[in-house]
Amino acid sequence: MIAFGLTTIFLIQATSGATITATQPSHWTSWQNVSVSWEGIPPPLTLNSDWIGAFINNYNTTYIKFINVPAGDSSSGRAQFRLLNARHDYIFRYFRGDDVLATSNVIQPDQSKPNQGHLSFLTSVGDPIPSGQMKISWTTATPDPGVVRYGLTTDLNLTAISSVETYVAKDFTDCMGISPIEPRNRSFENLSTRAIRCGFNCYDDPTSSELFLHPGYLHTASMLNLFPGKKYHYSFGGNKSKERSPIYTFTAPRETNDDKSFTFLMTSDMGIGGIHEGESGSAIDNDPNHNHTGYPNGIGNGADVVVRDGILADPQTKDDEFIIINGDISYARGWPWIWEMFFDLIQPLSTIMPMMVGVGNHEVDSHENPFIYTSNGDSGGECGVPAASRFTHLTSPQKMYYSFTHGLVHVIVLSTEHPIKDQVEFFKDDVAKLNRKKVPYLIVNLHRPIFISRNEGYVTNILRKAYHQLFVDNAVDIVYQGHAHYYERLCAVEMDATNTNNVSCSSIRDRPIYIVDGAAGAEPDMTSPFSDLTNYKEFGKWGYSRMFVEANSIELRHYAAKIATDGLSVELPYTMTDSIRLERK
Ligand SMILES: [Fe+2]
Repeated sequence: MIAFGLTTIFLIQATSGATITATQPSHWTSWQNVSVSWEGIPPPLTLNSDWIGAFINNYNTTYIKFINVPAGDSSSGRAQFRLLNARHDYIFRYFRGDDVLATSNVIQPDQSKPNQGHLSFLTSVGDPIPSGQMKISWTTATPDPGVVRYGLTTDLNLTAISSVETYVAKDFTDCMGISPIEPRNRSFENLSTRAIRCGFNCYDDPTSSELFLHPGYLHTASMLNLFPGKKYHYSFGGNKSKERSPIYTFTAPRETNDDKSFTFLMTSDMGIGGIHEGESGSAIDNDPNHNHTGYPNGIGNGADVVVRDGILADPQTKDDEFIIINGDISYARGWPWIWEMFFDLIQPLSTIMPMMVGVGNHEVDSHENPFIYTSNGDSGGECGVPAASRFTHLTSPQKMYYSFTHGLVHVIVLSTEHPIKDQVEFFKDDVAKLNRKKVPYLIVNLHRPIFISRNEGYVTNILRKAYHQLFVDNAVDIVYQGHAHYYERLCAVEMDATNTNNVSCSSIRDRPIYIVDGAAGAEPDMTSPFSDLTNYKEFGKWGYSRMFVEANSIELRHYAAKIATDGLSVELPYTMTDSIRLERK
């Protein structure tokens, strides 16, 4: 066991006569307010002595949420917890410091409903997306194969059976190449401080296997024989009506070599870093009561929700043909229920258009040691296992880069967290297969920036050396980067191949254009230095980007949140703050 000044405690219930009771909600399918009451609490009840934690039943590592019980002389009280249906039962514990005075009854969300629906393209590396096909993935509490019903009308006359997978704690240790570690079933010592997240190095376990919580059963089904460009209706889940999702709609992918205009969305760093009062682990959550720090005027309640709502409120979104989330997807960082919250967050978007993702340091890790899997670190030891399992277009934790062609655009998604050499070969082979007369535009997505005005240290130099000239030689149009939590557009960069710090704006080349856009919800950078490479920069604003693809040009537009006059919210939809248009070569 690694000692970090922390030991563990077991949850021992004192015999106090105190009781705590939770009210079982009815129709609990997503978020739900749960009433909890307590009585028989012995005095003294002093400031910050007593608190109540909501726990997933039989998962004692830490609470999911907590409330402080006000000091006073009352022996009873009542409160509400807003909790997500993550297919696990909940219980509540009444604490005085570290002592458990009372444990509640078990309450149970509706475990028959599927959740976490998300569409994605069927990809075959380097090849066009097969037209007439779309994948749908979802999660259930039981392993039985499910079915997607779909069709041009809400009769849903077509069906496809799902394949079912899951992952287990051993997958984390296998990925790291170490012996299995039993999941923890005892609580952290510092529970009573209500500040569970003690940094990236406080786990006994270098992977996130000790925090393991069963992720449910991950279904994927392929909807085939779709008419390109037609609107389809669909519903997924089990055979009984109570086991099925609502009916959603999507537009079938365009035909191969289609040269019509279209748009798609790109964004990065969608989760929220840091821990906030009342939460455990990372903080992505669509709970409006959260008070996230770091944003002007106190705005920041559910930043990720604000960005999602900004995208959904944008009238153009209904016509977007897919969305790319370019790494640092959920900021779960080893805390399993954060993935649950993330999928609940994005479901309104991911059920209406394919969601394609890249990975960043918070999925795989390479905080100090790029391009290898590191223990602990920025991903909390996830080693890419949850990301690769949940997004089936990511091949495996060892290979999280891919490409696809959609009409006039070829998109290459690279991983800055995996070895470069293989990806350089992949890039060369992939581009060599492209017919640029038919597919003129080339977009590269990668998480850590190659060019950025703030100092990103030696990692940028490694990436510059490996990729910049390759991108220039292959006429990449846009390099879309994340990681820094702001938006920046750089000039077309000229770089000295022998000194990667010797960079300037090119007067000759008009491409590739490097974009930094990590403004999708993680704590925003409120300031950042400008450099000679900066053409446009804004910080302290959440936002997202959209590509407009046309036969003769491609244009990136960035949209940013504008603070409403009440000073406490943002105006919807967002406003466009920057754009760049590149002519077809
Ligand atoms: Fe990052």
